[in-house]
Formats: sequence, C-alpha cells, structure tokens
Amino acid sequence: MLEQESMEIRTVPVQSRRRYFDLLLLADEQESMVNRYIDKGDMFVASTDGTDVGEAVVMPLGHGVLELKNIAISPEFQRHGYGKLLTEQILSYYGNGCAVMLVGTGDSRMTVSFYESCGFTYSHRVPDFFIDNYDHPIIECGVRLIDMVYFKRINHDSALLENSFFLRPALKTDVESLRFLFMETVKCVNFGDYTREEVDDWASCGMDLSHWEQLLADADYFIVAEHPLAGMVGFASMTDDCEYLHSLFVSKDYQHIGIATALLQAVERHANEKGRKHIHTEASITARPFFEHKGYGVEKAQMAKANRLYMRNYVMSKQL
Ligand SMILES: CC(C)(COP(=O)(O)OP(=O)(O)OC[C@H]1O[C@@H](n2cnc3c(N)ncnc32)[C@H](O)[C@@H]1OP(=O)(O)O)[C@@H](O)C(=O)NCCC(=O)NCCS
Repeated sequence: MLEQESMEIRTVPVQSRRRYFDLLLLADEQESMVNRYIDKGDMFVASTDGTDVGEAVVMPLGHGVLELKNIAISPEFQRHGYGKLLTEQILSYYGNGCAVMLVGTGDSRMTVSFYESCGFTYSHRVPDFFIDNYDHPIIECGVRLIDMVYFKRINHDSALLENSFFLRPALKTDVESLRFLFMETVKCVNFGDYTREEVDDWASCGMDLSHWEQLLADADYFIVAEHPLAGMVGFASMTDDCEYLHSLFVSKDYQHIGIATALLQAVERHANEKGRKHIHTEASITARPFFEHKGYGVEKAQMAKANRLYMRNYVMSKQL
C-alpha cells in the first residue's frame, strides 16, 4: 500500500497498444473481443518507479458517457490498491468531460467487489452477452459468466450530466417505463399535430402492459436510451426481420438533445449488420420532419387505425 502513492498514468498511442496484450487478456480473455476496441478510444498504462503495473482502455460513447472497456493490474501487483488508483486517475484525466463512467463485467464476486469499492453502482445488464459473443465458456471464480452486468459512476459536478444518456437493450422489467414514456410522449409531444381526442385514443393503445410484453417478445431489436439518473428517456424497436421500425419515442422532457438520432443510428447499424438494405416505418405528422432530415422519403400518406380512431400518418422508407 506504499508504492501506489507514486503511481503515474500515461496514454498509449494506437500503434503501441498491442505491446500490452498480455495485460489486456487478463481482463478479457478472447483476443477477437479485445480487437474490437483496442484501436479505439484511449488507452492508459500505469507505472510506479518505472515499472508498468497495469492498463485500462476507455471508450467515449458521446453525451458525456465513457465506458471503461478493459482494466487489468499485473498479478504480482494486485490487491495493493493500484486498480482503484488507476480508476481514480482516469476519472481525473477526463474531469467534468465525463458525466458518467460505465463498466461492463461478468457477474463475478471478484470484479463486482472491485468496482463497488471504486464507487460504481449497478446500472443494467445485457442478457447472454458472454454466450452470444465468446467462442468458449468464460469461467470466473468457478462460475460461468452469462450476462454482462453494467455498473456506473456518476460525476455530479459535470454539466454534461443533465443531457447525458446511453443505449442498452430493452428488458422485460422495462414494461412499466415503456408504457409511461409512450403515453406521456403521445399526450404531450404529439398533441399539437393531433386533436386531444386523437392523442388520447392513440395513447390508450399502450395502456395494457401485455401490449409491451408482446412487443418485447416479438421485436427483432429493442433498445432503450437511459439517462444515468432519470432512467428511460427513449426507446426504439424493430420487427419484420429488422426491416420495419415499429417504434421510436423520446421522453417529453428530453426532446432535442440527440436521443432519437442515436436510437435511429443504432437501429440502422443493426439492420445493416443483418444484411437489410431497406427500412420502412409509419411516421406520425410530428415525426415526419425528423425522418425526412435523416434521409427517409414519404411513400404515401394514410389514415391508420389507433384504438378506435383513424389518424393521419406517413409510410416512410430509406435505402441503407
Ligand atoms: C480487478 C483488478 C483490476 C483489481 O485491481 P487491484 O489493483 O488488485 O485492485 P485494488 O487493490 O485497487 O482493490 C481495491 C478494492 O477492490 C476490491 N477487490 C479487488 N480485487 C478483489 C478480489 N480479487 N476479490 C474481492 N475484492 C477485490 C477490494 O475491495 C479491494 O480493496 P482491499 O483489497 O483493500 O480490500 C485486478 O484484480 C485484475 O487485474 N484482475 C484481472 C483483470 C480483470 O478481471 N479485470 C476486470 C475485467 S471486468
């Protein structure tokens, strides 16, 4: 517990990062996974008295959110406080440019204790991440890792916090938030382009929780935008084999800060990865200018049935 007081960090240029592969593999044992991020973001190496003791890779996700992708301390230097100090020094490096630091880890006592001791708290989980992305079972502390568990550390001093958000997969536990966000948005944001009677009728389509449970079960892709303090602030879902953008909604309190753009980019990237060449959607009068701005063209105007009433929307599409 003495040496770490003189620990320093330095950034590592992209061309030199592979020199630290042994350390990187301590935190993420599959080389192909490390290769996904090694050339991106920032890499830091920690040293004390000229000896390198550990490394970390940090990825800026935008909107004041950073993700700690990899952190490792050489085995002979572990449990001496270096990991904690490296985390603190990285956070100081970004200062108020970091509103929230995320870190994803396996559900293992060892790493969870470490992050909790560094001031991180539970954020969300990505189900089956270690099954879907690794070519072999990952065992830690005798337990097979399944879900990626995300933790967050919030910087309350950062002015970016107010408008920060990140994307994550939607989960079954989100149904109440989905219902609330949808109904609020329709009643407040779409009101103006539709009559009160129309928005009430449309909002009522989301009243039943089973509607959201069914949508989650049927969707090919369903993502949520999450504010680190406020929770869900937007969502998007795709059906029809990722060719139909079924929904795109942003909370009435978080309009015009780039959430719909981020959701749409993620949706289009996903459709692209699935080999889709084309996306279509049914846009409300309110959303039509947004989609036009993003390169979608109107195929036709139509009167679509909400609950009881028929109301105007537009079939719009884009070639990817
Ligand atoms: C996780 C890791 C980075 C921690 O680094 P470290 O320098 O050993 O951690 P610190 O000494 O700063 O530990 C700070 C606190 O975290 C907790 N902690 C760290 N390692 C722990 C372990 N193996 N088991 C339980 N708690 C642990 C403890 O509360 C510790 O405080 P204490 O030891 O004084 O009680 C290091 O063990 C490592 O490199 N592991 C292999 C790579 C890895 O798994 N990275 C994370 C991938 S998600």
